Amino acid sequence: MAELSADLGFCTLKNPVIPASGTFGYGEEFLPFFDLDLLGALILKGIFRKPRSGNPPPRLAETPAGVLNSIGLAGPGSEKLQEIIRRLHAKTRTPIIVNVCGEDDREFEEVAEIFSAMAEVAMLELNISCPNIKKGGACPAQDAGHTSRLVRRVKKVVRKPLIVKLSPNTADIVGVARAAEGAGADAISLVNTFLGLAVDLEKRKPVFANTLAGLSGPAIKPLALKLVWEVCRQVRIPVIGMGGITSGRDVLDYILVGAAAVQIGTVNFCEPGAAVRIIGEIEAEMDKLQIKNLSEIRGKLQA
Ligand code: SIN
Repeated sequence: MAELSADLGFCTLKNPVIPASGTFGYGEEFLPFFDLDLLGALILKGIFRKPRSGNPPPRLAETPAGVLNSIGLAGPGSEKLQEIIRRLHAKTRTPIIVNVCGEDDREFEEVAEIFSAMAEVAMLELNISCPNIKKGGACPAQDAGHTSRLVRRVKKVVRKPLIVKLSPNTADIVGVARAAEGAGADAISLVNTFLGLAVDLEKRKPVFANTLAGLSGPAIKPLALKLVWEVCRQVRIPVIGMGGITSGRDVLDYILVGAAAVQIGTVNFCEPGAAVRIIGEIEAEMDKLQIKNLSEIRGKLQA
C-alpha cells in the first residue's frame, strides 16, 4: 500500500489533501459528510478582526469549467471564530489552519497574533492574495516589497508556522515567492484565483459590483500548475499547490512539479465528499504506478 504522508518540513501531514480556505466553511459544515480526521489538514474561511458582510450580490457566476467569485471575505470576526475553533477542535484532531486577513498590515498582524496564541490552531495562512477586496483586484501579493514587509511584520508576532498564500495576478510570482521566503515564511501556498470578468449583455454592465472577480476550478489547472512548477524551482521552503484539482491524478501532478501538499477548493462546492474520494484515488493511483511514497516523485518532473 502506498504511503501518503506529506512532509512540510516543520510538520508531517497524514496525507497531502487540505481543503482550501473559503471552500470548506469553518469545518463544522462538513461534519455530516465525512470524518474530518481523514484530511491532511483543513483551512478555515478567511477571517478579519471584526465581522464583515462582504461584497453585495451576486457573488458567484458559473463558467464552463469553473466559477467566478466575488465574496469579499465575508466572515464572523475573530472573536466568534475562536469559539468555532474550540468546538471544531473537540471534534477532530486534524491540524486546523486559520486563513488570516487584514484591511491593512496592522490588521494582518493583529489577527495573526490572536490565532497564533490559540493552542487549537496548528498553522496560519496569510491571505495576501484575495482579489475581491480592493477595486481592480489589488492585493499585497502583487508586490514583492509589500509582501516582504508584511510577512516580516507578522513573523515577529507569531509562534506558529506561517504559510503565505500567493496571487497569480502579478507579473512576477517567483519574485513575490522569494520575497516571502526571505522575510521568513515557513511555506508558500499558490495560487489564489485568477482575475476575470463576467458581463451582463442586456444591462451592458459587469455582473459583479466590484467589476472583476476571481476564477477557480478545472479551467485554471494548467495555469496554476505552471506557476507552482516555476515557484518550486526557485524557493527552498515547502510549496502547497492549488488550482483546479478534482482527482487523485491532479494531486500527483502537483507533487510531480514540486508541491509538498495541495489544497482542493472549488470541487468542494459541487461534491462535499470530494476530499475523501481524492485521497482514495491518490492511493489507488500510486499503487497502480508503483509509487511507494510522495517523496519518490516530488519535484521529479523532467523538463
Ligand atoms: C473572497 O472571499 O472574495 C475570496 C477569498 C480569496 O480569494 O482569498
